Amino acid sequence: MRILVTGGAGYVGSVSVELLVDAGHKVVVLDSGASDNPAADLGGAELVRGSYGDRAAVAQLLAANRIDAVLHCAARSLVGESMQQPALYFQENVAGGIALLDGMRDAGVNRLVISSTASVYGMPEASPVREDAPLRPINVYGETKRTLEAAAGWYSRAYGLRAAALRYFNVAGASARNGEVHDPETHLIPNALKAVLGGAPLNVWGDDYPTPDGTPIRDYLHVLDLADAHRLALDATAPGDARTDAMLICNLGSGRGFSVREVIAAVERVVDRPVPRVEGPRRAGDPPELVAAIDRAREVLGWTPERSTLEEMIGSAWALASRRAA
Ligand SMILES: NC(=O)c1ccc[n+]([C@@H]2O[C@H](COP(=O)([O-])OP(=O)(O)OC[C@H]3O[C@@H](n4cnc5c(N)ncnc54)[C@H](O)[C@@H]3O)[C@@H](O)[C@H]2O)c1
Repeated sequence: MRILVTGGAGYVGSVSVELLVDAGHKVVVLDSGASDNPAADLGGAELVRGSYGDRAAVAQLLAANRIDAVLHCAARSLVGESMQQPALYFQENVAGGIALLDGMRDAGVNRLVISSTASVYGMPEASPVREDAPLRPINVYGETKRTLEAAAGWYSRAYGLRAAALRYFNVAGASARNGEVHDPETHLIPNALKAVLGGAPLNVWGDDYPTPDGTPIRDYLHVLDLADAHRLALDATAPGDARTDAMLICNLGSGRGFSVREVIAAVERVVDRPVPRVEGPRRAGDPPELVAAIDRAREVLGWTPERSTLEEMIGSAWALASRRAA
């Protein structure tokens, strides 16, 4: 297949590019550099600098490279920033996303896999969270993802777009070549590893949640398992594949939850050093528990998260981070 990966120089995108190239696909990366990893190893995939929000440029790129399918990983994805700058998030994630969908229509490309997020659910009432849970985002970031999903759903009905939206919970871990480099970094595992390596102490936001140890519970997914899911979802968008006659929506996680304290304890076990930390009050908008129901991805995509243990996610991230720090 010939695949365009938007945001392919970022964390999730670069690992998926790696896997797709290794599987023999021809991959073109479209990345603006807004939050890319300058050290990303794209394994020979061509990197084009530009925005997926430029409809004409997207159409031209798709046609010139005879692209079959698009994996749309690019986005603005900082929750705090989204609350400060909703205009930027609606412009990029929603208006830009529609420009991408229209650029695809112009070029006659109708296969799409979208990076979505558990943030579309907001504060879910039941756990594990199923795909039919109500969508009530509580931040601008989640709202923009929900809106783009909805647009893609209507484009599927009206224009024959064959799409899959994958709602990731928390992505973690690294491949041997690519890993998580965000600035600012807001995720628990990389921040715990940074604290171990002499960076700022880890903030623990609240320990009075209604969970066994009082800290929030989250579901972590190995970035390589996520890359597998991307490959399977791209296959599901093939012409005539009934799985994407209507837009397919799947949660992706490990299906297991770990508290903040459990993750910190696992980091300390894996790296055999203490995680310097400061305990603070709750952060607004953190649900006590977010765990994915992943039966649909298992049944429909034939996907299994094989590497999503805390040890493998932390160990792979630590291996890459300590190599880079050396
Ligand atoms: N990392 C997670 O835990 C997580 C969880 C849920 C959902 N997601 C979603 O997964 C996707 C990838 O996340 P990530 O952690 O790899 O983020 P990232 O910031 O590392 O990567 C995003 C990439 O998109 C690029 N980009 C941004 N705007 C662009 C534009 N207009 N045109 C072209 N490129 C642009 C950035 O330069 C960057 O390389 C995002 O859509 C995010 O919302 C991530």
